[in-house]
Amino acid sequence: MSSADPNPPIARRGKLVVAGQGYVGLPLAMRAVEVGWDVVGVDPDEKRVKRLNSGDSYVDDIPNAQLSAALTTGRYQASTGYADSASDFDIAVITMPTPLREGNPDLSYIKDASRSLAGFLSAGATVVLESTTYPGTTEELVAPLLEEGSGLKAGTDFHLGYSPERIDPGNTTWTLVTTPKVVSGIDVTSLTKVKDFYDTLVDVTVPVSSPKEAELTKLLENTFRHVNIALVNELAMFAHELGIDVWEAIDAASTKPFGYMRFTPGPGVGGHCLPIDPSYLSWQVKQTLGQPFRFVELANDINDHMPDYVVGRISAQLNGQKKPINGSRILLLGMAYKKNTGDARESPGPRIASLLTDMGADVRACDPHVDGPLPARVSRVDFGVEELREADLVVVLTDHDAFAFAAVSEYAAHVLDCRRVPELSSAERL
Ligand SMILES: NC(=O)c1ccc[n+]([C@@H]2O[C@H](COP(=O)([O-])OP(=O)(O)OC[C@H]3O[C@@H](n4cnc5c(N)ncnc54)[C@H](O)[C@@H]3O)[C@@H](O)[C@H]2O)c1
Repeated sequence: MSSADPNPPIARRGKLVVAGQGYVGLPLAMRAVEVGWDVVGVDPDEKRVKRLNSGDSYVDDIPNAQLSAALTTGRYQASTGYADSASDFDIAVITMPTPLREGNPDLSYIKDASRSLAGFLSAGATVVLESTTYPGTTEELVAPLLEEGSGLKAGTDFHLGYSPERIDPGNTTWTLVTTPKVVSGIDVTSLTKVKDFYDTLVDVTVPVSSPKEAELTKLLENTFRHVNIALVNELAMFAHELGIDVWEAIDAASTKPFGYMRFTPGPGVGGHCLPIDPSYLSWQVKQTLGQPFRFVELANDINDHMPDYVVGRISAQLNGQKKPINGSRILLLGMAYKKNTGDARESPGPRIASLLTDMGADVRACDPHVDGPLPARVSRVDFGVEELREADLVVVLTDHDAFAFAAVSEYAAHVLDCRRVPELSSAERL
């Protein structure tokens, strides 16, 4: 009797092109390889593509072993262009960045990818947009570009839909696979195609009636988070003035089993989502209805102001030691916007560092996850007893597990903890 094959052959599902190999595109590509898709990850960034093809991941949630395993199957390759790699695709997913430029949505990346994919679009293929954007983008921007470049008709000749990404970097419970995925299509067949595709990747798909609802779903989720973070941030500032422990109140409120959801204060919001996505919604409301989206504007105002507030608290704490900011040695722990990730996009850490150096502080920053450049005049340092001892003030901006907070408690004379780290119970908190 033969024993069961530990690596049974996997059913080939078809060809997938993932446009963009960043925080969203790479995990999607890796998962698709696991379940049998032949995947091409297209990204114009030559360095990234080189790293990917040599098994060297730059996304925290994708370990090198997973990338190497994908390469070993022979069903994954990264490419800098569409020309040699995108022909005859069955499905293409667009995971391009959608930044703001002077407060306005910049959809140039999505346009570029749509134009490029159009040249390789064949009858019966499906295109899905995953980038976060304002409602209407899939039908009003992507569809015409695909039609124009391919000579095919959306809905009739090819299928098109939108499925928002809910990836939460660093979260090991709610992953790409276990988090329900909202799916949509521009017509019934498109919805079926999009749903069937994601059913191969994730545990649960949630169909909605059109791309506009799916696009709005993503903006609703992120605006909800943004507004609630702003609420606790404002509360933290007032509670400090009133001499009340806001963290204890949040703990107590969180015991309510219904009608309350826990959010915690911090030095500001960062990443590609919260500082940007709600503005896509307020921009559209303003453009089309001529009205301000007041919740978003208020939340932006409060959250954007948090780095200034932290600098004010740093100043007050140094003042307590009879020291000015000018000339003080300040150690900032954490430049990433989020625990255990290396994502420093829009992060409050670099902003706080710049504000302090502008005021003459000797700023040192430590973040083992972030390897990108730091603001001018900020020294990158390793975590260590010497740095903790010599600092006039240590400020915890990100509570990475990599930081030995027991050492912070032991060796740092003065600490401002913006994250409420358990080991720092006697430190001053935000
Ligand atoms: N990062 C997250 O946690 C997250 C979560 C949910 C949704 N999103 C949304 O997903 C989208 C992508 O975000 P991300 O964090 O993955 O961005 P990212 O910057 O990490 O990755 C985007 C990649 O696209 C590449 N690119 C640029 N132009 C391209 C082109 N023409 N063709 C192919 N690739 C191109 C870039 O080089 C980059 O590697 C955004 O709309 C974002 O709002 C992000």
